[in-house]
Amino acid sequence: MEKLRDNFGRTFPYIRLSITDVCNFKCGYCLPNGYFKPSNAPGFLNIDEINNLVEALSCLGVSKIRITGGEPTVRKDFFDIIKIVKNKKNIHNVVITTNGYKLNKIADQIVDNKINGVNISIDSLNAETFRKVTGHDRLNQILEGIDVLQKKGFKNIKVNAVLLKGINDNERDFDQWSEFINKKKIDFRYIELMQTGDNLNYFKKYHVPSSVFKDYLNRNKWNSIDRVSDAGPSINYVSPNSNGKFGIIAPYSRDFCKSCNRLRITAKGELRLCLFGNTGVNLRPLLKNSSQKKELLNLILTQLRFKKESHYLEIGDTGATPHLASIGG
Ligand code: 5AD
Ligand code: SF4
Repeated sequence: MEKLRDNFGRTFPYIRLSITDVCNFKCGYCLPNGYFKPSNAPGFLNIDEINNLVEALSCLGVSKIRITGGEPTVRKDFFDIIKIVKNKKNIHNVVITTNGYKLNKIADQIVDNKINGVNISIDSLNAETFRKVTGHDRLNQILEGIDVLQKKGFKNIKVNAVLLKGINDNERDFDQWSEFINKKKIDFRYIELMQTGDNLNYFKKYHVPSSVFKDYLNRNKWNSIDRVSDAGPSINYVSPNSNGKFGIIAPYSRDFCKSCNRLRITAKGELRLCLFGNTGVNLRPLLKNSSQKKELLNLILTQLRFKKESHYLEIGDTGATPHLASIGG
């Protein structure tokens, strides 16, 4: 079987597939004014286009697909999409990223559809801070959703927060998370705030290096563990005193890109080689009909040769990404 491989020897068993740009939250770093539908924009991939796309990915040896957004669960056919992806051969690992706003309502279906993992964004365990960052007072429903999932025996839950200066970068927040992950046996990661096309002022005001959290971990005797090859960009920490793991995702660190094993596909069918790359190709014209599969495979394989070695973020090049809701985190 032909494998996805780029000029730097990296292989790509992992695809992040956005199924909508729409999000109902207003995170200050992402969609501070909420989602607005651009006029005349083409719609998001429909379920048949997604089926053709995922069929091709399965042929290319992709084994893990993360369904993202925007907020993917706002789509009415969300679980129909999950069923399609779950049914493809090779794709053993189907995971989702969500803001969790209706987790308490859909937890049953998440379990019944055998979704393999859920990443939930929770920027703070302090309800008021949470509201300030996301524009929504929904922390408790989200936490309730986690409880429902766990009661049903669901294991692979991860929580992410974006680290923000003066908002959630203090000892009290860190301690709260520490208690939470121990009690719930859940992994939690801080993501360093990334600059995007739209958030320059926010970035200047709130970016803080993840070393503040790393120092906390060191002070409290957490030990970093080696990356497992398929594991993604986070550096993880364990402690003999905790049932959970901590992690740090620091996109500005040297070597962040070296282990990159992911490609992104936007909700309109554009293959993006890097979160911050200018390079993308529209796959959509080849998703109309299953008879186009061979052409589609060729296009994806050709594109990969353009994947750059690094994202060049450190020189302030944010590529074509206005905000992460447009590309799926
Ligand atoms: N910097 C870092 N993380 C971000 N996310 C969204 N925008 C940014 C940004 N500018 C995070 C969300 C979520 C994940 C999908 O991406 O909070 O955890
Ligand atoms: Fe929505 Fe996620 Fe963007 Fe927040 S970060 S506005 S939850 S897409």
